[in-house]
Amino acid sequence: MNSGGEASAIQVRGILLEKFYISGGKPLTGKVSIGGAKNAAVAILPAALLADGPCTIHNLPYIDDVICLADILKEIGAKVNLNKRGEAYVESSTVTQYKASYDMVKQMRASYYLLGVLLGKFGKAEIPLPGGCEIGARPIDQHIKGFEALGANVVIEHGVVKASAKKLIGNEVYLDVVSVGATINIMFAAVKAEGSTTIVNAAKEPHVVDVANFLNSMGANVKGAGTDTIRIKGVDRLNGCEYTIIPDQIEAGTFMVAAAATAGDVVVADVIPKHMESITAKLLEMGIEVIEGDDYIRVRGIQKPRRVNIKTLPYPGFPTDLQQPISVICSIAKGTSIIHESLFDHRFRHVEELRRMGANIKVEDRTAIFEGVDGLSGAPVTATDLRAGAALIIAGLVANGVTEIDNIHFIDRGYERIEEKLTALGADIRRVKDGDKPLKVLLGSSNSAR
Ligand code: UD1
Repeated sequence: MNSGGEASAIQVRGILLEKFYISGGKPLTGKVSIGGAKNAAVAILPAALLADGPCTIHNLPYIDDVICLADILKEIGAKVNLNKRGEAYVESSTVTQYKASYDMVKQMRASYYLLGVLLGKFGKAEIPLPGGCEIGARPIDQHIKGFEALGANVVIEHGVVKASAKKLIGNEVYLDVVSVGATINIMFAAVKAEGSTTIVNAAKEPHVVDVANFLNSMGANVKGAGTDTIRIKGVDRLNGCEYTIIPDQIEAGTFMVAAAATAGDVVVADVIPKHMESITAKLLEMGIEVIEGDDYIRVRGIQKPRRVNIKTLPYPGFPTDLQQPISVICSIAKGTSIIHESLFDHRFRHVEELRRMGANIKVEDRTAIFEGVDGLSGAPVTATDLRAGAALIIAGLVANGVTEIDNIHFIDRGYERIEEKLTALGADIRRVKDGDKPLKVLLGSSNSAR
């Protein structure tokens, strides 16, 4: 059993074979509340180990990746109490290990944050190369370059990254590519290093800023997060603190796209609209109505969205994590839409599944060309990664008939209670365990949303 007595992510993945069944064709309507940011949570939770005192973290999404990370922290000796309300108490004084096992870290990519954290805390870390979504090559050379610039010796032996330093000393690190993970990991190694570190060409994502704010709440001196130059003055010690994580930009974007795709009318609440600008801009370009409030965004879809061109880019550009969800709107928009994926080389694996549902999409290298069709039809499909899974849910909501989605453990990695939230918006979506009789539990007829 894991934190709070709940079934652990590993147990969940190991035992339950579940599917989603969606009876599509209904516009989503109502209000949905967005949870804490996954990509901030998976960095902030391990970062709590850098403090000498306990940390209390609020607004964590209660998703498999967070549950799994809590288990990894416990495995290396931390006291972690995570509950379903998204609060975690992390006490690091009992952490004695600077190693984590392959069985644990292979479950999730963000386990690479233990490298920066344990290196910063103990001057030593041994972490197997991380797992995570199969969306293409995901090297960590920039993380390693940063650790080495701070004086660490880094080797990879038998699939384990081993980093050690007698003393970490601040330096300037220029990132060759804008990397979220490397920016955050170098911050972790640098917060307690001697002297100053400057990260040039740093990632500017909202969760990079959130992590910097968390470190500063513990007494760190990090300035410039949110710009491409981050300056860190090392401090001797960090205190425990209490911190609330920002809303999830990608969950919010997923619901905005789902509202638009189903020609629905949804208030996406508890968000930071500024973080949503790139997605808002694209929806507006497609003729969809988007109304911004202080902490909500209302999306009102239309029957036939206009074509669009999208290129994924680091923040504030269009996020690669929303490329797959928005491809569903491109599939049914009027005319030819083009999506260019500039960050990852295998992020069109959902296209094959969308084709099974009637979409007309050609992929050439990292570019997908969509000839908009009149509608999608339900089919059995397989989620190949987290955001591909989100895209297939949206496609299922749009389609006529029943869509059966396999491999939904990918979706559970990053979306909390997604079927409950969608059901509250009027969707007909059921989680079905292996052996259940799925079609009998589905609600009745599907009315075309478009
Ligand atoms: C994070 C997010 C992921 C998101 C991605 C891009 C987390 C846990 N995951 O992943 O959801 O899709 O940012 O916004 O926060 N790269 C290198 N060398 C490196 C590191 C990265 O070449 O050392 C390249 C990658 O191959 C990729 C690009 O840089 O092309 C961006 O990757 P990065 O920002 O590091 O992604 P992640 O941190 O893995």
